[in-house]
Amino acid sequence: MTTRIIGTGSFFPQMIVSNDDLSKVVDTNDEWIRSRTGIKERRISEGQDTSELAIEAAKEAIASANIDVKEIELIIVATSSADNVFPNTASLVQFGIEAENAVCYDLSAACSGFLFALNTAHAFIKSGIYKKALVIGSEVMSKTIDWKDRGTCVLFGDGAGAVVVAADEIGIEDMVMYSDGTKGNVLLCEDRKVGNFLTAAVKNEEVDSSYGFVKMEGQEVFRFAVKQVPQCISKVLEKSNTNIDDIKYFVLHQANIRILQSVAKRLNVDIEKFPTNLELYGNTSAASIPILLDEMNKKGMLKSGDKIVISGFGAGLSWGATLLTW
Ligand code: ACO
Repeated sequence: MTTRIIGTGSFFPQMIVSNDDLSKVVDTNDEWIRSRTGIKERRISEGQDTSELAIEAAKEAIASANIDVKEIELIIVATSSADNVFPNTASLVQFGIEAENAVCYDLSAACSGFLFALNTAHAFIKSGIYKKALVIGSEVMSKTIDWKDRGTCVLFGDGAGAVVVAADEIGIEDMVMYSDGTKGNVLLCEDRKVGNFLTAAVKNEEVDSSYGFVKMEGQEVFRFAVKQVPQCISKVLEKSNTNIDDIKYFVLHQANIRILQSVAKRLNVDIEKFPTNLELYGNTSAASIPILLDEMNKKGMLKSGDKIVISGFGAGLSWGATLLTW
């Protein structure tokens, strides 16, 4: 028994922000952003929070799976931009879709979040603990961006993607996941600071109640991704004794077109096998893979029996790959 994706969905805020729009806010331009990243525009929330995007994506995935919402036993939301410290986003989704039989929690692994969440759901399903789960990647990254930092603000966007997974004879075949905590500083978004009115008063200091924004050493992240992603894809294929030529699509986290091109080159695979939509959505972190899967599913690109590899990579540092049969 394994875990099969039986439904997909996605949802975006309505507001479209082009590269030209951004050039009115920071010193940048369309040519720089397109040539360095491939991104043309992104969706930005004007108020809808992470759970609201997640709920809409989840409703679509459940409709596409054609199941009763009451069958869902587990909801995992992968996010780095939760509505609240608590309750978790998954519980807000449970309320929003009335999935009263599900246990709910969030998973924080940045841009690897969806992959890690899918693999976590797989572990429950493969072990027989649960039969159906809802796995969501949802982000309002615009909350976490310093809109004065042109090095990061041009990269990210908001959106949500969701999949329903169920126990089946075919589906996930193998997976690999990795973390390197020593490189945490190269891609970082700090939360609240330790310290409060009491401790500050004792020391006669001001309370620092500031929040952090996304900070990134871009070239270091680039080098990490183009080295580790091909290696982990090769590893999952080797583990499952699968020939790379048998893979129909490589569905990668949508960070940057140059990362995808470099990974394709290193694997000696035609770039046509790497679908992209980052042109329209930017980097939606944990949401990018399920959004792309949903787009491919809606376009009829995914046929029963197709072998696909999905790969996520990002802060932590964290990365991994999963091989599955559609
Ligand atoms: N517009 C115009 N100029 C810019 C911008 C911008 N938005 N951002 C930076 N610049 C300038 C810099 O100030 C610098 O100017 P200088 O030479 O006068 O100092 C110049 O452009 C080059 O800057 P670099 O940071 O060296 O640019 P680089 O070629 O490395 O491209 C980028 C930056 C696109 C972020 C690249 O490093 C990259 O692709 N990194 C991968 C990281 C990534 O994709 N992160 C996404 C999030 S992480 C994840 O999802 C895994």
